[in-house]
Amino acid sequence: MTIETMGSEALERIAAAGDAAALESLRVEFLGKQGSVSALLKTLGKMTPEKRQAEGPKIHALRESVQNALAERKAALDAAALEAQLASETLDLTLPAPETPQGSVHPVSQVMDELAEIFADMGFAVATGPEIEDDWHNFTALNMPESHPARAMHDTFYLPDEAPESGRMVLRTHTSPVQVRSMKAQGAPIRIIAPGRVYRSDSDATHTPMFHQVEGLVIDKGIHLGHLKWTLETFLKAFFEREDIVLRLRPSYFPFTEPSVEVDVGFAIEDGPDGKGRRVLGGSGDEPGHGWMELLGSGMVNRRVIEMSGLDPDECQGFAFGVGVDRLAMLKYGMDDLRAFFDGDVRWLKHYGFSAFDQPTLSAGVGARA
Ligand code: PHE
Repeated sequence: MTIETMGSEALERIAAAGDAAALESLRVEFLGKQGSVSALLKTLGKMTPEKRQAEGPKIHALRESVQNALAERKAALDAAALEAQLASETLDLTLPAPETPQGSVHPVSQVMDELAEIFADMGFAVATGPEIEDDWHNFTALNMPESHPARAMHDTFYLPDEAPESGRMVLRTHTSPVQVRSMKAQGAPIRIIAPGRVYRSDSDATHTPMFHQVEGLVIDKGIHLGHLKWTLETFLKAFFEREDIVLRLRPSYFPFTEPSVEVDVGFAIEDGPDGKGRRVLGGSGDEPGHGWMELLGSGMVNRRVIEMSGLDPDECQGFAFGVGVDRLAMLKYGMDDLRAFFDGDVRWLKHYGFSAFDQPTLSAGVGARA
């Protein structure tokens, strides 16, 4: 076989190789250690100089054309493989997602959004404070000095004593320290709500070591108890979406408010779907078949707290209130076990959670499913 026919046959077979494996076996057949082209190259050594001069360039040219043909075919096969892969992996981004797992907005988040919406309409801004709080903001500045018996009622989580200069650090037991922080930071006038997590060492069906509160604070000239009552009434009517919400203010005690008022809301007992009686907010609690339930603590900000927060209590007054957010959610959306709020059970979340599209607005109704 002449070198020329060998060459044209090799190029033909290389061009016809159907895949990478076939191409590799051709490479071995021609250029491998035992390959036919390699064998030809070995004959050069035994040739006479004249013959080598004649045959050498032909044999080298053969090897080069086989090498080039192999590389060319490899590139073509690789390109075809990539084409095929791309064709099989096309993804139409305009198609709807099939069975994507869907999350939901937790009732606590939903209620906090509802609160922000309702209070924003009354001119309140949202303020926040740290959950790891110092003793001074959580207690002392709220008129609870070291020895105050009210401290014992808070079942406080204390942190290891690391920063004695600012007092011992605690997990805040209520959102009230945000009152102090807001007054110190912005002076008067103030109209804020402060929603967030709070912590107490307590656990049963209605208490969890972490729960949520929203604080309200108004500081201005000439604020009185009437402003507090109107604000709470307006808030609760909007929140529960009932005009017949009736409040009862009862004298109470908090070290940081004077006077302090506990606020009860009237409810009726109606037959639930399961035949059991359930409490439905609305109407006076004094009517037959009705009752009062305790809902929140509030009062006029104690002048000592205003003073310790750097303001002049003869210049400005204010009211404050604190209410459990989880409790509000349970009353509005009908859950009866607080612990389930924090279990992260997807079945519960699916049942009680909200669509991210259910943004509470006053015009559309702040109760997404009411
Ligand atoms: N901080 C009080 C509590 O956690 C609630 C409260 C807030 C009472 C503001 C009066 C004024 O029980």
